[in-house]
Amino acid sequence: MRKKERILLKNKSVLLGISGGVAAYKTVDLVRRLKDKGASVVVVITEAAKNFVTPLSLEVASQNRVYSSLFEEPMAHIKLPVAADLVVIAPATANIISKFANGIADDLLSTCLLSYKGKVIIAPSMNWRMYENPVFQENLGKILSLGVMQVGPEKGDLACGEEGMGRMADISDIVETVKGALSRKDLVDENIVVTAGPTREHLDPVRFISNRSSGKMGFSLARAARDRGANVTLISGPSQLKKPVGLTFIQVETAGEMLDAVKEKINDAKVLIMSAAVSDFTPVEKSKTKVEKDEKFTLKLRRTDDIISEVIKSKRKPFIIGFAAETGKNINRAVEKMKKKKMDMIVFNDVTEPGSGFDVDTNRVVIIDKKGRTRLGLMSKDSVAEAVLDRMMKIRA
Ligand SMILES: Cc1cc2nc3c(=O)[nH]c(=O)nc-3n(C[C@H](O)[C@H](O)[C@H](O)COP(=O)(O)O)c2cc1C
Repeated sequence: MRKKERILLKNKSVLLGISGGVAAYKTVDLVRRLKDKGASVVVVITEAAKNFVTPLSLEVASQNRVYSSLFEEPMAHIKLPVAADLVVIAPATANIISKFANGIADDLLSTCLLSYKGKVIIAPSMNWRMYENPVFQENLGKILSLGVMQVGPEKGDLACGEEGMGRMADISDIVETVKGALSRKDLVDENIVVTAGPTREHLDPVRFISNRSSGKMGFSLARAARDRGANVTLISGPSQLKKPVGLTFIQVETAGEMLDAVKEKINDAKVLIMSAAVSDFTPVEKSKTKVEKDEKFTLKLRRTDDIISEVIKSKRKPFIIGFAAETGKNINRAVEKMKKKKMDMIVFNDVTEPGSGFDVDTNRVVIIDKKGRTRLGLMSKDSVAEAVLDRMMKIRA
């Protein structure tokens, strides 16, 4: 599983610049997470940052030499940027951002930035007073207008004990942004609608029928399509997952609401990925008050409207990818479902298999389409998402 996960940033080299903010202590985790995704990480740390994290920890985490001095290895300020696919500055202090904006090169990190010609991501982190300072804002605006990508900061508790804008973005958001910057861009400007998560069908104000879907597979698909350049609309039922950045997010609750949201967005969409576990049944009546336990109670259900059947009625049918969560290895039922509902692809998984299905980070799927079947081993849902999109690109070509 770890091996498969590594594919996402395989052969990518990240130069991680760490400047002297308190959040620097979090960068050991950032290095690990980037390496987990397959990237090689070379750290350049400022003198100030060494007060918050030790070069030794970063050397151990990155399994690479950590650079700091401009003069120890005289050509490092040219060689390191040339070898990098991406430069990430996390945390990015007010100082390094302002130096970058003004072309100042007085240490190894700022000199690397000046000589680098590729993409740069900054994760600013500082006290809110520094962040709001107009001189700093002008410097920040200048580098953003030159194409530097920014992730965070967030509003919240700051290390100094105050609250405000300035917390470094979560490590997971920085990793997401790195993935986005390094992904191949083969879905640029395509409108893609992805559904995710369960739906809830209420029988009274406190009770509902739902299912075990966590939304993980759909969120992975939405993020992967976004990273590959698509304009993604993610329509999600109730889920504990963090709303992804950089896409349109529509929160729904019931199957009816999900259908309405899909209908509204589908006319502009080239692709519909139906990974939501939409309830097949809904109560015939919803009680306005809580049904008491001493009442005799029979729950009557009716079928919900099938979203894909509604979508294929539209004039411009999108490319439809469905999901079949089955118990038992019933692939033929998935094939029948694909044909009957006029889908272009269906992703089969047996939710009873270990590591597959609901609320886990991994899945073992078979991708079925008109040209055949692709059986994948156990891998992360992020990797499954990439494989599904790869297959779509192949059969559309
Ligand atoms: C305890 C402490 C915490 C600091 N935290 C931050 C911070 O979070 N963000 C920031 O921009 N500067 C912070 N500074 C100030 C920087 O360390 C200072 O501007 C330094 O010159 C930055 O150098 P560098 O950008 O080369 O790493 C902090 C300073 C101290 C003493």
